[in-house]
Amino acid sequence: MKLSAMQGSKILATGSFVPDSTLSNNQISKIVETSDEWIVARTGIKERRLLIGNKQSVVDLATAASLNALNKISMNPLEVDLIILATSSPNDLFGSASQVQAKIKAFNAVAFDLTAACSGFVLGIVTASQFLKNGSYRTILVIGADVLSKWINWSDRNTCILFGDGAGATILQSCKPQDNQILGFQLNTDGRYWDHLSLSYKKNIDPHPLLNIYQGSFNYIAMNGKEVYKFAVSQVPLNILKCLQSLNITINEIDWLLLHQANERILLAVAEKLSISTNKILVNVNKYGNTSAASIPLALDEAVHDGKISSNDIIVISGFGAGLTWGTVIIQWKC
Ligand code: UT7
Repeated sequence: MKLSAMQGSKILATGSFVPDSTLSNNQISKIVETSDEWIVARTGIKERRLLIGNKQSVVDLATAASLNALNKISMNPLEVDLIILATSSPNDLFGSASQVQAKIKAFNAVAFDLTAACSGFVLGIVTASQFLKNGSYRTILVIGADVLSKWINWSDRNTCILFGDGAGATILQSCKPQDNQILGFQLNTDGRYWDHLSLSYKKNIDPHPLLNIYQGSFNYIAMNGKEVYKFAVSQVPLNILKCLQSLNITINEIDWLLLHQANERILLAVAEKLSISTNKILVNVNKYGNTSAASIPLALDEAVHDGKISSNDIIVISGFGAGLTWGTVIIQWKC
């Protein structure tokens, strides 16, 4: 449905889903040389969920999170005009969003994947809000879902302690400008440092004998943890400040800080740099680890479910990670 230009965007519902299977730090310490004490002290992570077996994929997690959100508001999936699936672990490089569309029976929706690693959900919300604002679409499902366990080198203790699998979903709808909840955003990429965190193409040793084409597969996740850490604690506060300034919002007006759940130390360091009190930080990295594009919608859904967020609360949401790409979107919650 084509609406008049310059609509607002509101969040109608959130949903999430994580696999049942839990992997504790002690279990990881039987696979690589590490300990529960080290992982908790350096990351805040106690356990993570993993999608085990070969029957389910990121599509199933994304589907369950989406149905969870749709069911909360009894929305007919046919009302959804667009599905944006933020993921870096699709089960089809041509895109997995169309499989989610079919599974939730949202047959009127166009669907595409968005690849921006741990910033994927923030970029998804910003992308959706543009379609809503200009009147192209009325109802958009934004999903963040990742199954990075499939791409971890389980003998690399630098990475295998961090990641977990999960999915979160948000349903956005256009609304009158005065009801707008997506107040503003600030996005950045610095591709010079792409190799600080990558899941890159791995070409075969020999090319095709006649065509000189190198075919291949993908490497495991490779990360320079120290550099990503330094990048996050230096750039994310600046990005948030820039976004706040553009909206004339002061630090004191922030009710919740919802950062990508990468490492509890990063959340605390960013909050400290911004002088935001720790009781305003939404944290669940202890239970799920770093679920990449899923981490923000998963934590948002949990906070809504726990009744933490009240009407008119200002929530600063920031994602950061591979790219390197990072970004903030500031929302004002309306119940
Ligand atoms: O989602 C995208 C964003 N990703 C991130 O945000 C990750 C950002 N980086 C981090 O969170 C941290 O850098 C890590 C948690 C990955 C690592 O923590 P760190 O405090 O930066 O540790 P480090 O790499 O400086 O290593 C300190 C020591 C080293 O030993 P030495 O050289 O001091 O003897 C490591 O070999 O800890 C050792 N170490 C470990 N020890 C036990 C590294 N990993 C482990 C481990 N268990 N898993």
